[in-house]
Amino acid sequence: MENKVIDEKRQGEALHVAPGKRKPGKKMFIESYGCAMNFSDSEIVASVLSEKGYTTTGDYKEADLILINTCAIRDNAELRVRNRLKEFNSVKRKNPSLMVGVMGCMAERLKAQFLEEEKIVDIVVGPDAYRTLPDLIESVEGGQKAVNVLLSRDETYADINPVRLDSNGVTAFISITRGCDNMCAFCVVPFTRGRERSRDPLSIVNEAKSLFGQGYREVTLLGQNVDSYLWTGGGLKKDNPSAEELINATTFAQLLEQVALVDPLLRVRFSTSHPKDMLDDVIHIMAKYDNICNYIHLPVQSGNSNVLERMNRGYSREWYMERIRSIRQILPDCAISTDIITGFCGETEQEHLDTVSLMEWVGYDFAYMFAYSERPKTLAERKFKDDVPELEKKRRLTDIVALQQKLSGECTRAGVGKIHRVLVERVSKKSEDMLSGRNSQNTVVVFPKEHYKKGDYVNVLAETCTVATLIGKAV
Ligand code: 5AD
Ligand code: SF4
Repeated sequence: MENKVIDEKRQGEALHVAPGKRKPGKKMFIESYGCAMNFSDSEIVASVLSEKGYTTTGDYKEADLILINTCAIRDNAELRVRNRLKEFNSVKRKNPSLMVGVMGCMAERLKAQFLEEEKIVDIVVGPDAYRTLPDLIESVEGGQKAVNVLLSRDETYADINPVRLDSNGVTAFISITRGCDNMCAFCVVPFTRGRERSRDPLSIVNEAKSLFGQGYREVTLLGQNVDSYLWTGGGLKKDNPSAEELINATTFAQLLEQVALVDPLLRVRFSTSHPKDMLDDVIHIMAKYDNICNYIHLPVQSGNSNVLERMNRGYSREWYMERIRSIRQILPDCAISTDIITGFCGETEQEHLDTVSLMEWVGYDFAYMFAYSERPKTLAERKFKDDVPELEKKRRLTDIVALQQKLSGECTRAGVGKIHRVLVERVSKKSEDMLSGRNSQNTVVVFPKEHYKKGDYVNVLAETCTVATLIGKAV
């Protein structure tokens, strides 16, 4: 899955639950792991269950229902979930009526097997079955365990108004596609999230408008591969659209423009772009609208064409470099980040060094880096041997992490002495007197509070920096 990986787990507590819909007493605790799509899905689940009278709590010890939204992308992501379930178990022993549900990618991967392996679990629900949660809860109330892991070809939850969890009231996610049709050899996502489908653009634009009306000032459009977004009218599935459907279709570039037009004060970001599908039309739309942020997350995975071929990524090193040249030419001020895997099946030292040289050539602003972790059922598991020793994978990872640290520092330092338009998101974690926000390039900028507040746009002159943060004052 190529959405930004949010490394820390987060517990979702809603700021606003529609009054009047509350029935007293029932409390849910939702904890999310993994990518932004999971965090966004938890907001859909909170909405489905708030209709049934559940309110959210930030303390699992007082919950009637614990839901854990899981990630299956690497083995260690699954291990963290198993350990967390052990912690929940101690509460369940004291309170046997406590219900525990697992949702998300690990639920989809393990299905009913989850119930065998983890006795604490009452509900297993896959990413396309969240509407059925109230029924599943009823089954458990009736004394049974409940599983629904059916994947769908058309579910996009387009009509569900997410309950914003953990929100700063300024930035929000909007999901625009679900699933993935790419079949990268290392990736479990096509198996856990099913076929790709696009959401009705009208519902996306309306969600953006509604968020803006509530005071939000930034939306991030989410999809496993946003560039392949394609709405072909009533039909939700985009397999083999006719020529006429294609003429009337909405592409990602067009959708981006529609969302940018909601209001010049609404910033628009998106994630994740796929190098094989991100063409110049998207970059031109970014250049046309000031409120589309100059930031592209473009996962390369490897800098070597043979590895990319084994990964089934659908592009070569040269193609990727050409995409970067286009970005630099059309949007000279654009920050670029990436995802990289070290030690994929058969990766030689020379192939690894190609990744190193590509990183240097691009000069990434930021990178998420991982050691390859073999996943059941994937193309790579069936076709190749996971033959790079763990220590070697880690050594290569350490190499590129150190390099990226240097590159990120250089990118941040280049912002010192310049004025940045910052959208204020919160009071700084380090000091009550400082505010924190991000510039268009997604770099965190911190500055003295003065009279400014959350949701303001402030021009900040950067005076110093750390590796990833600019520090300055309002001008
Ligand atoms: N092992 C290691 N990293 C992986 N990713 C996806 N699958 C695996 C795997 N099996 C990484 C990719 C992807 C990011 C979200 O996670 O870099 O872009
Ligand atoms: Fe991303 Fe490829 Fe996985 Fe799809 S299959 S989610 S494009 S890494």
